[in-house]
Amino acid sequence: MTKVGRKLCWVGVNASRLLLAATFVFSGMVKVVDPRGTQYKLEDYFLAFGWSGWMPGFLPLWLAVALAVFEFCLGVYLFFGIRRRMTTRLYLLFLGVMTPLTLYLALADPVSDCGCFGDAVTLTNWETFGKNVVLLLLSVVVFRSYRLMSRFVSERNQWTISLYSIVFALVLACYSLYTLPVFDFRPYHIGANLPEGMVVPEGEEEPVYQTTFVLEKDGVRKEFPLEDYPEDTAWHFVDSRTVTVSEGYVPPIHDFSIVTWPEGEDITEAVLADSGYTFLLVSPYLEMADDGDIDRVNELYDYCQAYGYSFYCLTASGDEMISRWQDFAGAEYPFALTDDITLKTMVRSNPGLVLLKGGTVYGKWGCHSFPKVEDLNVPLEESEWGTLRSDSRMMTTLRVVLWFLVPLFVFSLVDRLWIGGKMYKRKKHRDSITNLLNKRKMRKKIVAGNWKMNLNLQEGVALATELKNALAADQPNCEVVICTPFIHLASVAQVLEGSVIGLGAENCADKEKGAYTGEVSAAMVKSTGAQYVILGHSERRAYYGETAEILKEKVNLALANGLKVIFCIGEVLEEREADKQNEVVKAQLAGSLFDLTAEQFSNIVLAYEPVWAIGTGKTATAEQAEEMHAFIRATIAGKFGAEAAENVSILYGGSCKPTNAKEIFAKPDVDGGLIGGAALKCADFKGIIDAWKA
Ligand code: 13P
Repeated sequence: MTKVGRKLCWVGVNASRLLLAATFVFSGMVKVVDPRGTQYKLEDYFLAFGWSGWMPGFLPLWLAVALAVFEFCLGVYLFFGIRRRMTTRLYLLFLGVMTPLTLYLALADPVSDCGCFGDAVTLTNWETFGKNVVLLLLSVVVFRSYRLMSRFVSERNQWTISLYSIVFALVLACYSLYTLPVFDFRPYHIGANLPEGMVVPEGEEEPVYQTTFVLEKDGVRKEFPLEDYPEDTAWHFVDSRTVTVSEGYVPPIHDFSIVTWPEGEDITEAVLADSGYTFLLVSPYLEMADDGDIDRVNELYDYCQAYGYSFYCLTASGDEMISRWQDFAGAEYPFALTDDITLKTMVRSNPGLVLLKGGTVYGKWGCHSFPKVEDLNVPLEESEWGTLRSDSRMMTTLRVVLWFLVPLFVFSLVDRLWIGGKMYKRKKHRDSITNLLNKRKMRKKIVAGNWKMNLNLQEGVALATELKNALAADQPNCEVVICTPFIHLASVAQVLEGSVIGLGAENCADKEKGAYTGEVSAAMVKSTGAQYVILGHSERRAYYGETAEILKEKVNLALANGLKVIFCIGEVLEEREADKQNEVVKAQLAGSLFDLTAEQFSNIVLAYEPVWAIGTGKTATAEQAEEMHAFIRATIAGKFGAEAAENVSILYGGSCKPTNAKEIFAKPDVDGGLIGGAALKCADFKGIIDAWKA
């Protein structure tokens, strides 16, 4: 992939991630601040599916809180890039289940509003399905390329944000349950004028209903529409049906009515038009009402009597329950009947209290925070309860956001400082080594392992894990790479995620793709997550006939696929004995690398491996290594210029061990090692890595 392509990919993945995260944070937050609303919605679904009978009563509320916290935290995790693999998997799983489910809901329409954004945004079932299809596509994008998502918090400290998000969401949900929803998106919020909420604006279509009467005469039944109702009184009424012909505009408040009990008189208009104060004690079901504060309600009623304010208890319970409540609670206040869904919408508490004046909501209280009459020893006009507060939604939003963001900001700051401190320490250490070793240039120092054809998959994964842990506990002062057989790559890439260790292959094909049985292309290597590939190793030249020409093809393909190449060169014993080592090495460089551009060459790491020293226990002396490395650097300078020569890392390979690494690495032109046998044991490999430490 080209650089521009890669950049576009990165932008696409991160944009998808932010969009998904924002949607989930929002949908989670509207549920967190109103868990009862989600509970009611879940109950609607369970009723429509016929599950209410066997479901324990507490379950919908518990599920509502769990769903709210889950969605909110998933949004936060994706935003910060926390546990990217697991988080993106959860998105895929969640949306993979929700999308077909919402398709079913759109087709069967058991409940008209899905409730995915609480009362904040109302979507039809088809709109919800469409939204989920888009989110599912985005979640596929982030799932496939989760590694491209930048992290906004270090891996080491991500648990603080994970935990804080869960605790924050749980506490807010419990607080909203104990009091009332922190945000009230319903048409009965404080400051709302109920008659205004019932108006169908001019120009909007009114709903149209068709009523049909079933009448009977002389044993014959016939249906008559309202407009054709027969004048003949011999027809007797049997039944009537009303169907909605056209929905028209449905105002936010469309089902609010107050009918006195037991008289049955509709007093809705009178209550809403009352310019004085009216307290409404709202209890959808008296049988389920929290009776902890019923004495306070009675005192409030006495207070209303004393000051001439109206007071009604609105309920959807039946006669028997109302009578029982009167006896049990000693309630002398009047009762009136209202639809249960309306009551549940008015106030998220059973019982709850609503204060109206002139049809406007002046106050709302949950059952744990009813106003105390001791605090109300003055008329309402003179108390803060009876004063309409200016809309505080802005302030509430700010408070909630600050409560969440300030601690997060502090965590992130500490995290950044911690990371910065570590980086500073590492840099200081590296500087001191450089001074110590009197290196001429700050070239990249690399210790790379070449596992060759050793270790099965389990052994390889175990070794990578051991090394990752060892280097996490004791950070290296150089770049560390392990190059593994093809079969290990994908698994080891997972193990190494988030570690400082780079990953490479030991070879790749000299063809781009196609019918080359048994071969593995550079693109395939790259797709495992590897960043390097070893090419030109003497064992591949000797046993698999890899010529300079073949290696040239491989190098080009590896670079074109975004891999860095560790390119090996080195003479055999006879050549050294004939003093032909310089000639041989120069020919190897020229044969495979000299057609590269300087930019391409910047992705090459060279490894000088005298063949007579590989796996023989016979090491080149530090002086022999330095002499050859200096020659190689001069050759590179001749072809690609001084800067390229100064910048290219040249590694030494061949029986390198913890005991000799320090001496070899101390040479000014030796920038690290390519390690074979000693890379198969964590302690040995780490010993060589530590040779870069003072
Ligand atoms: P040894 O370290 O086993 O000698 O092998 C060196 C090597 O071939 C690395 O590629």
